Amino acid sequence: MKLAVIEGDGVGKEVIPVALEVLDAFGLDVEKVPLELGYGRWERTGAAITDEDIDLLKGCDCVLFGAVTTPPDPNYKSVLLTIRKELDMYANIRPIRPLPSIKGIHDRTDFNYIIVRENTEGLYSGIEEIGEDVSTTKRVITRKGSKRIADYASKLAGSRTNKLTIVHKSNVMKSDKLFLDVCRQSATDAGVTPSDELVDSFAYNLIRNPWNYDVIVTTNLFGDILSDMSGALVGGLGLLPSANIGEKYAFFEPVHGSAPDIAGRNIANPLATVLSLKMLLEWHGDMAEAGILEEAIDTSLNHGICTPDLGGKSSTSEVGEFLANYIKTRV
Ligand code: NAI
Ligand code: MG
Repeated sequence: MKLAVIEGDGVGKEVIPVALEVLDAFGLDVEKVPLELGYGRWERTGAAITDEDIDLLKGCDCVLFGAVTTPPDPNYKSVLLTIRKELDMYANIRPIRPLPSIKGIHDRTDFNYIIVRENTEGLYSGIEEIGEDVSTTKRVITRKGSKRIADYASKLAGSRTNKLTIVHKSNVMKSDKLFLDVCRQSATDAGVTPSDELVDSFAYNLIRNPWNYDVIVTTNLFGDILSDMSGALVGGLGLLPSANIGEKYAFFEPVHGSAPDIAGRNIANPLATVLSLKMLLEWHGDMAEAGILEEAIDTSLNHGICTPDLGGKSSTSEVGEFLANYIKTRV
């Protein structure tokens, strides 16, 4: 496997080394290609990402990514939006599942749902006109873009409980009528039962009754917001992994950002990134390794080896050390 590794900014520089230590513990045949991208690089060189970086990424099988800082500067080209678009990774898969010994806002832990977020268009189209008095961002919904994410979600739902919830705001934004219609058709074609909810009341229902949901498909911005919100259900943002999947490329990253408020203190929770590595291993077909990694994480949590955000006393690197040592006893 040729793996591009991007630490990025802030806590990205702390959680990616943990994921690599964990990966190394398996002794798999992996060629790592490190790339420096993001805000730090922009400050140093004036470019957060270049065409050469994209070419390098395209030469790899997959990417492991930490997080980047993105300033609201109109001249700053977002690294993530650029990569997701250039590599056409249209599906952002965000599984939400409680881990052992860790509770979120509910006592019940019998929920396990997946947000399938459209990743290349919607309000993150990048088509903007920024002016002194009026600024606009274009929300783009296409039939092609909607169909491929709907098909992905419908297939996923078919492999689970056959339940698909389409989340939209078509009552106000008519562009979502296209998204909704395409999703309904795709679900029906796949033999899956679709239901749909307006995003505002859906947010309320999801946070109150997460056990009512299984596969959720939605547009770019809604998926972004609903996934961070879901962090409250499982115990924190430091626990949410994600995969960006396209026809050719795959890209794995924690849901959280560069967390400047805690960066540089070796207290960031590395599990979101380690769980993203688990998704990478599964995507690559290394199922035995993924299983051992899950065992390692469960064991660390059951022993109270966790970072302060989960109420623990361990540092980022101590969690990494525990996981790597556990894996070495199992491979
Ligand atoms: P954030 O996700 O970086 O942090 C939100 C809160 O969660 C903070 O209180 C932070 O300390 C906490 N947190 C995040 N990751 C954690 C971890 N691993 N362990 C423990 N606590 C953790 O979001 P925020 O503060 O809104 O954005 C900070 C920067 O990150 C911004 O520049 C933003 O543009 C960027 N960002 C980058 C993303 C990416 O690279 N994928 C995603 C989201 C934001
Ligand atoms: Mg986000």
